[in-house]
Amino acid sequence: MTGMSDRASARLVIPGATPHYSGKVRDVYELEADRLLIVATDNLSAFDVVLPTRIPGKGQVLTRVSAFWFRRLRSAEPHHLISTRVEDLPEPFSRSAELLRDRFMVVRRTQRVDLECVVRARLTGSGYKDYLATGRVAGIALPPGLEDGAKLPDLMFTPATKNDRGHDENITWEQAVEMVGQDTAEALRARSFAIFREASIYAATRGVELVDTKFEFGHLGGELILIDEILSPDSSRFWLKQGDQLRNVMDKQYVRDYLETLPWDKRDPGPELPPEMVERVSRMYRDAERRLTGS
Ligand SMILES: Nc1ncnc2c1ncn2[C@@H]1O[C@H](COP(=O)(O)OP(=O)(O)O)[C@@H](O)[C@H]1O
Ligand SMILES: [Mg+2]
Repeated sequence: MTGMSDRASARLVIPGATPHYSGKVRDVYELEADRLLIVATDNLSAFDVVLPTRIPGKGQVLTRVSAFWFRRLRSAEPHHLISTRVEDLPEPFSRSAELLRDRFMVVRRTQRVDLECVVRARLTGSGYKDYLATGRVAGIALPPGLEDGAKLPDLMFTPATKNDRGHDENITWEQAVEMVGQDTAEALRARSFAIFREASIYAATRGVELVDTKFEFGHLGGELILIDEILSPDSSRFWLKQGDQLRNVMDKQYVRDYLETLPWDKRDPGPELPPEMVERVSRMYRDAERRLTGS
């Protein structure tokens, strides 16, 4: 089987509708009046490859968690979310209401800024990798000897390019300015920090630390609009104190560790996950939602 047919087999089929764009995890449909319908599938990606195995309930968790934050955070305004109500689905989507329930967002279509606005409170993941290789993160030199997960003295804005082929690349502030202009870059950074700070304060009340996250923005009518999913277990690290250890509420590392034991070259198509792993990951997503939103 080719990567294409694997990808196709993991899609949600909505009779009468064709996605305008299929991302790794979500399908985007164009609606009337400059709106988009974003549908979250149960796809799981690892090492930038969509695995053939779906995680039951994952799409609903991502959608509900994003919608929760869009509605809760003052600093999220202005954002793209219009509705998550099945009553607001137009034809032909309304005929697939049960399939779509809790998986979709009707949003305002924007001119996307092709930059991933990453904010970090701690040094881990690709930021830590960059630091180990160069001593710098987003072009900024950090003191030597920092460990994986070290708290950063201040929040860092570490942008990455949005690459439709999947492999996002970390860039420096100067490169971001070159791409989007000084004013937009500064606005993106200020918005990203404000949302991160407000979300961190809320997360702390739930016993969770927001470690890092990724935002996307788009231009619409002269405004910079917060788009895409926000503060979901896929776009963020939320750490929980467990004894004197910090553990990610949604630990995909567990899946990655398993995949590392296989003779797989990390190219499409990926391997199936065993049923007990699917169940465990599915449970982790649901637990992450309960932990963050309380429901
Ligand atoms: N309001 C919006 N306006 C324009 N584009 C959007 C909006 N919200 C989300 N998007 C884009 O829709 C796509 C969502 O699908 P996703 O599965 O995240 O794709 P990808 O694999 O490219 O990240 C992304 O390309 C995202 O940038
Ligand atoms: Mg995306």
